[in-house]
Amino acid sequence: MSNADRVVLALGGAGVVGSGVVKALLDKGFKVAVISRDSNRLEKLKAFVSPSTKDRLITVVGNVGSEEGAEEARQALLKAAGKVTDVVSSLGFSWWQGGPPHTQTLKELNWVLETLLLSTFVSWKAFFPLVRDNPNGTYTFITGGAGERLLMPGTGFLTLGAASALAFCQVLREEYAEVPCKLIQLKVNSGVAAPERMGPGYLSHLELGEAVARVIQQRSAAHSVFTINCSADLRNIPSEGGM
Ligand SMILES: NC(=O)c1ccc[n+]([C@@H]2O[C@H](COP(=O)([O-])OP(=O)(O)OC[C@H]3O[C@@H](n4cnc5c(N)ncnc54)[C@H](OP(=O)(O)O)[C@@H]3O)[C@@H](O)[C@H]2O)c1
Repeated sequence: MSNADRVVLALGGAGVVGSGVVKALLDKGFKVAVISRDSNRLEKLKAFVSPSTKDRLITVVGNVGSEEGAEEARQALLKAAGKVTDVVSSLGFSWWQGGPPHTQTLKELNWVLETLLLSTFVSWKAFFPLVRDNPNGTYTFITGGAGERLLMPGTGFLTLGAASALAFCQVLREEYAEVPCKLIQLKVNSGVAAPERMGPGYLSHLELGEAVARVIQQRSAAHSVFTINCSADLRNIPSEGGM
């Protein structure tokens, strides 16, 4: 199946990480669908991708963080795109540094978990059935390094949310070891930003997007995990990696 016949749903595709992935997938000839709660973010995304690829970008306004919202978005997506062959999920937020746990509220912890874990779970439940039985299909999660350590004082809730997303990916790989669709995870242990906003040690979302698009294009023979610490790791995938 050529890239032109594949439709990739990019969950979080209007975000910093997701927009780099969407641009790279479109540049490789895929059709790409993006669901966002915010129509302004979708307009910005349309202005950001290569002009000649815009006609292959499908946008849907919707909230994939609630069960009702995800179901509505699924129906709108299928109406607009007809099918989905691959999913890439980069839901969440760029950064959280609200302070040490004793200064935080339950509401704040709920928000972090909702954004990093619950939206990932709810959207997976709605969209995985579209690709699950496709031996050429992929479902890719982009997760962050905060899940394995406290990145700096005051980022404890980020660690909790990111750790729960890491655990969720591990659970899926083990519970769904035999499904035809390949589950792929990119564990990104550095900051990611647009080239003009990068700090020291950051990865460009364009470079990350390129690597994710290569992984999706190549398809893994098995469920896979790629650990990314620096640009060199991005250049090495998908030839290196795997579990
Ligand atoms: N940025 C980094 O430095 C970095 C580094 C390593 C890993 N990562 C991973 O990449 C993920 C995304 O980071 P980012 O920088 O792209 O964040 P971002 O710019 O805030 O984008 C996150 C996207 O997630 C969506 N989203 C969040 N909560 C949602 C909810 N409840 N329901 C539906 N959609 C929701 C947003 O959708 P809307 O368009 O609807 O607002 C947004 O498009 C992180 O969570 C992390 O796992 C990021």
